[in-house]
Amino acid sequence: MLQQVNALVTVNRPLAGDYWLIELEAPSIARQLSPGQFVNIRIPGLVPFLRRPFSVYRVNQERTRLQVAYKMLGEGTRLMTTAFSEGGFCDVIGPLGKGFSLPEQAKRIAVIGRGIGIAALPTLVDLAATRNIDVHGFLSARTPPNLIGADIFADHGFPVETHVDGDRNVELVTDLLQAQISRTSFDAIYVCGSNRLTRAAHRLAQQAGILSEVAMEQHMACGFGDCHGCVIAVNTDRESTEKAWREVCHHGPVFQTWEIINASA
Ligand SMILES: Cc1cc2nc3c(=O)[nH]c(=O)nc-3n(C[C@H](O)[C@H](O)[C@H](O)COP(=O)(O)OP(=O)(O)OC[C@H]3O[C@@H](n4cnc5c(N)ncnc54)[C@H](O)[C@@H]3O)c2cc1C
Ligand code: FES
Repeated sequence: MLQQVNALVTVNRPLAGDYWLIELEAPSIARQLSPGQFVNIRIPGLVPFLRRPFSVYRVNQERTRLQVAYKMLGEGTRLMTTAFSEGGFCDVIGPLGKGFSLPEQAKRIAVIGRGIGIAALPTLVDLAATRNIDVHGFLSARTPPNLIGADIFADHGFPVETHVDGDRNVELVTDLLQAQISRTSFDAIYVCGSNRLTRAAHRLAQQAGILSEVAMEQHMACGFGDCHGCVIAVNTDRESTEKAWREVCHHGPVFQTWEIINASA
């Protein structure tokens, strides 16, 4: 059930590269949250007042605290660095939206993230680890400091391959997955943070005949399906013949890639 909490801020500090990390004491949200769901944060001083949506980056083992990794982008995220001091409070709503599905029979999955889109993936990696599912990570960013999350894969003993813009070995991090797929079988592919990587992940999943899901980002207002401010066009069939409008906050943010690919063309 949706919770609105005035959560204690336990951490708010630079994380790496362009990113900051905020940690909130919010057990009623952390306990219920499943991978891929998000929270909506009220930022004091932001005008006009609209909450900002964020993926949950980590949940602690006791499921009492949640972390958000955020990129300073505009006024709201810039204000977050100063408006939330450790020991202060943060008004947060969650868990929101529909998260990733992890098939019961899955043995190995591929997880692809780019930039701050990587932040949607570690909770999925943690869940897969508890179910003894092997995870292979493929992370990409503009610069090396923005390659967050590789340590999370390593802590579980999962392999992770990385790629930064300008690397000459391959063009996209999904080229590394393509090479892996010729040697190893995967049961599902998950992606966040790049339309280009989503298209590549979709193509690889189609070829392998496996599930592929994408966590979408979209401008949002209410965050729970009331204002229709976050609609996108989706395919309602795999052949992309019929389209429909869907609220990302309510029907997503996680969609199957076939719902998204070529839907707005
Ligand atoms: C489900 C979901 C999960 C998200 N998870 C994270 C996360 O874990 N970490 C993180 O840093 N960000 C995440 N975002 C994006 C985050 O919500 C925006 O970066 C934030 O709202 C920007 O607020 P702002 O006031 O700083 O920028 P604004 O002043 O609102 O915008 C600054 C610039 O960024 C663009 N922009 C703003 N929001 C978005 C968006 N959602 N998609 C594309 N462009 C946008 C604007 O058009 C403008 O050009 C997520 C978004 C969604 C919908
Ligand atoms: S943000 Fe209001 S319907 Fe999605």
